[in-house]
Amino acid sequence: MKIIGTGRSHPSLVVTNEMLSQILDTSDEWITTRTGIKERRVISSENLEDLAIDAAKKALADANMEAKDLDYIICANVVNEFISPAMSCLIQGAIGANCPCFDLNGACVGFIYALEIAEAFYKSGKYKNILVVCAEEPSRMVDWHDRTASVLFGDGAAAAVLTEGDNIKATKMSASCSWDRLYQKHELQYSPYNTKPNSNLPLVMHGQDVFMFATRAAIRDISAVLKQSGHTPDEVDHFLIHQANLRIINNIKQYVKQPDEKFPLNIDRYGNTSSASVPILLDEVNKEGRLKRGDLIVMSAFGAGFVSGACILEW
Ligand code: UT7
Repeated sequence: MKIIGTGRSHPSLVVTNEMLSQILDTSDEWITTRTGIKERRVISSENLEDLAIDAAKKALADANMEAKDLDYIICANVVNEFISPAMSCLIQGAIGANCPCFDLNGACVGFIYALEIAEAFYKSGKYKNILVVCAEEPSRMVDWHDRTASVLFGDGAAAAVLTEGDNIKATKMSASCSWDRLYQKHELQYSPYNTKPNSNLPLVMHGQDVFMFATRAAIRDISAVLKQSGHTPDEVDHFLIHQANLRIINNIKQYVKQPDEKFPLNIDRYGNTSSASVPILLDEVNKEGRLKRGDLIVMSAFGAGFVSGACILEW
C-alpha cells in the first residue's frame, strides 16, 4: 500500500517549560537539556475525539478522498474519555464513513503497527482504502504533581489515508514484556466479588530503563528494515523517529551516521505524543513540501510493553 494523504490536529493550549516550573520542582534548563522539549500541547476544553476527527478530515481532504470510499478505519489509542465504544467508531460516525473499524493499543508504536496491519489487509485483497488515525492524551494518565513523567508528554492526533500500492518495503515489529517499567492500571468499579485491591494510580515510568530499551530497540529495528529491504542508511532520505527524547534520537543518528537534515524534529514543540508522534511529524514534513515522490522514509517507534517497530517505505 501507499500513503496518499496526511493530517494532524493539536489542542489549543500550549504549556511551556516555564509554566511547568511554576507548579513543579523543575526548570526549563533541566527539561531542555535532558529531553529537548520546550513546550507541549495539552487538552483543556477539547475532547480527544474532536482532535482525532479533525485530523481524519484533513487527511481525507489531502488524499482527495470521500469518507464513504473508506473500507476500514484503524485508530491507535491508549486512553481517552471512553473505555467503550472504540474511538474509531466515534471517528467513523463523525466523518460519515460506513466501513468497519477498530482500535489498537500499540502504545507509542501504534502508527507503525497500524501500517503493518493495513499492509496485510491489502494483501488479503479485501480492502483498498484505509484510514489510520492516531489520537493520544497522555495528560489524562500522568500525575501532574510528578515531575519525572508529566514534563515529557503532550496530547495530539494525526491521520494518514492509505490505498493500494507497493510502497512499504520492509517492517520489523517486536515485543518483549517488561510491563512494570512503564504502565498504568485501570480503576476498578465496585464489585461485591472482586477481592483484589483497587488501583487508581497514575502512569508509572522507570525512565532510565525505558531510555536504554528505546535506544537499543530502535537501532536493532532500523538495522533490520534496512537489511530486509537491501538499502543502506545513505539511501534513506528521512528518518522519522518517535519524538520521546532528543538524546535517544541523537543516539540513533550517531549509529546510522547520517546528517541532521535527515532527522526532522518537533519534540521541542509537542513533547512525546505517543502513537501520534510519528504521524504528526510525517504530516509536518509532508505539508512543508519536504517529501518528494520516490523518497525513502524510515519510521521507528518504541514504547510501553516494551514494544517497538520500524518500517521503510517509499513516498
Ligand atoms: O515513549 C516512551 C516513553 N518514555 C520515554 O521515552 C522516557 C525515556 N527516558 C527518558 O527520556 C529519561 O530517562 C528521562 C528524561 C525521563 C530522565 O532523564 P535522565 O537523564 O534519565 O534522568 P534521571 O532519571 O537519571 O534523573 C536525574 C535527576 C534525578 O535527581 P537526583 O536523583 O540525581 O537528585 C531526578 O530526580 O533529575 C531529577 N529529575 C528532575 N529534575 C528536574 C527527574 N525529573 C526531573 C524534572 N526536573 N522534571
